[in-house]
Amino acid sequence: MGCLCLYRSTLLTGGLLFLLMLADPAFPAGSRPPVVLGDNNRIPVIRSLKIRAQQRSAVSTTWLLPYSYTWSPQKVFVRTPKANYTLQDYRQFFQDIGFKDGWSMRQDTEGLVEATVPPGVRLHCLYGTGVPTPESFDYESFPDRDPKIHYGTGDGTVNLQSALHCHTWRGLQKQEVSLQALPGNEHIAMLANTTTLAYLKRVLLGP
Ligand SMILES: *[C@@H]1O[C@H](CO)[C@@H](O)[C@H](O)[C@H]1NC(C)=O
Ligand SMILES: *[C@@H]1O[C@H](CO)[C@@H](O)[C@H](O)[C@H]1NC(C)=O
Repeated sequence: MGCLCLYRSTLLTGGLLFLLMLADPAFPAGSRPPVVLGDNNRIPVIRSLKIRAQQRSAVSTTWLLPYSYTWSPQKVFVRTPKANYTLQDYRQFFQDIGFKDGWSMRQDTEGLVEATVPPGVRLHCLYGTGVPTPESFDYESFPDRDPKIHYGTGDGTVNLQSALHCHTWRGLQKQEVSLQALPGNEHIAMLANTTTLAYLKRVLLGP
């Protein structure tokens, strides 16, 4: 059995969704970190803040916040005038945004998959690079104003650092792990890119 992972979801540990997809191919992909502000899934008519309550209630939201085995535990993901929140500050963060349930949700789901354990199947990891991708958020007024977004590299949704988590499985499993960077490919556009499609075709139908 072989598997292709096309990454979805911002700041997630690359491969986390994929691990779950192994268990359930119909698992819906997540989206940008919408805990503080809402994410409108690129539907411009919906104001982010209006759907915040709904988005917060989705367990996948807290589950997909970054993990310290992909990012440094000291990484600051949200800055406000009063605090810098690192990956070690989730409890405080959820408390400060008035959403204590978020901390419980995170704890409930944290152990759902163990991303440090390799999936044990042949892997092809294709990922976009070179597209500005949100990496941290500065709030002048917290948490009800749009933040200033700091960008890193990735596919516009998935940070490169998350996508490269796939690499850590190399050598941890006997099945081969192939990584294929797709420079300039945006998250969604990647799926229609001819390089991506040619790769898929080769994997599925042979050279
Ligand atoms: C947050 O970190 C910055 C440095 O990155 C520092 O200048 C600032 O004082 C810190 N803010 C708080 C509230 O600790
Ligand atoms: C498809 O992806 C390749 C590899 O990243 C890139 O060089 C090329 O420009 C992309 N094509 C289009 C039409 O975006």
